Amino acid sequence: MGIILSRPGIYTPENIITNSFLEKIIDTSDKWIIKRSGIKERRISLNKGIREMGSLAAKKLLDQELITDQKIDEIIFATNLHDQNKEFPSHAGYVANQIDNPNAIASDITAGCTGLIYAIRQAYNNMVAEPNLKKTLVVGGERLTDMTDYSDRTNCFLFGDGAGAYLLERLDNEEGIINNVIGGKSDIGSRKFPSGELSLENKLGVKLISDPKIEYNQIYLKQNYLVMNGKKVFEFAVPIMEHGVKKVLENTKYNLEDVDAIIPHGANIRIIDSAKRKLEKNGFKGIIYTNLEKYGNTSTASVPIAADEAFKKEIIKKDDLIINVAFGAGFTWGANLYRAI
Ligand code: COA
Repeated sequence: MGIILSRPGIYTPENIITNSFLEKIIDTSDKWIIKRSGIKERRISLNKGIREMGSLAAKKLLDQELITDQKIDEIIFATNLHDQNKEFPSHAGYVANQIDNPNAIASDITAGCTGLIYAIRQAYNNMVAEPNLKKTLVVGGERLTDMTDYSDRTNCFLFGDGAGAYLLERLDNEEGIINNVIGGKSDIGSRKFPSGELSLENKLGVKLISDPKIEYNQIYLKQNYLVMNGKKVFEFAVPIMEHGVKKVLENTKYNLEDVDAIIPHGANIRIIDSAKRKLEKNGFKGIIYTNLEKYGNTSTASVPIAADEAFKKEIIKKDDLIINVAFGAGFTWGANLYRAI
């Protein structure tokens, strides 16, 4: 018997922020953004909070034909924020109610963009330790546009909103999840970024709100916004993607040649391409799938948003050996190795 990781259910908002829109509000160009990050557009949630998007992703997942018994024992919700602290207490508790599982164990986890990888490991370990846990739902949901300052051209082109969910379930004759690894490295910041190379700063910034007459209206608001030392984050990210992939294969019967697909956190195509080159030199022959060009960095939701598309396009399929790998603020990193269902 194994503990499987289901195919994902996802929710992505309808409204799109294109690079050409950003060209109108900051000093940038479509060409620069694509060259430096690979991102062409990202989604913005104008009316749904993190927990609502997470619930919609969870419902989509549970509606899949493969999932019949809908009783969920535990829910772990990975996210970076509680919508400017307006939402209390846990997102997971809200999801439990929305999916008619009010008695599920429910808690949230915050580990930057690696949050969902951490949540999968936590859910798996809990199920191994407690045989009465039959099904666990993990959700990653983000509204990063809510904490993005659209006057800060150094990072506002990167982030987008969305949610994704997976189910962990005990199933006979399935290999399921094989290994999980996570790690951290304290982000102690620097002179210019005293609270961390990727952190929040309370300041006056530009927010986007919906406007029926124009694409989006811009308002000035004092609140917490993301600030980032892009170069330092980049330096952390490049080697850690390769490290995560190698680490999750350690002490298993598999090596890089056996891996069919890697689903990396979609932060920047240059980080992914760099990891790809190094892994291919070490024997990796599979595919690395991302759709960050359409969604930007959706943090904890980026892996399921990419996996959903890859499954639907049959780029990844049942019995493929897959690695999810991510890095994030904190700093954090992690990977899951599993056999697809
Ligand atoms: N449009 C046009 N020019 C811009 C710009 C923008 N949006 N933002 C910055 N620039 C300018 C800079 O001012 C700089 O100009 P200068 O050389 O005259 O000083 C130049 O472009 C290069 O900027 P730099 O910051 O060195 O670019 P970069 O190659 O480091 O790319 C990032 C910037 C943000 C794309 C990159 O650092 C990155 O992706 N970092 C990791 C981010 C990440 O993954 N975060 C999420 C973690 S989960």
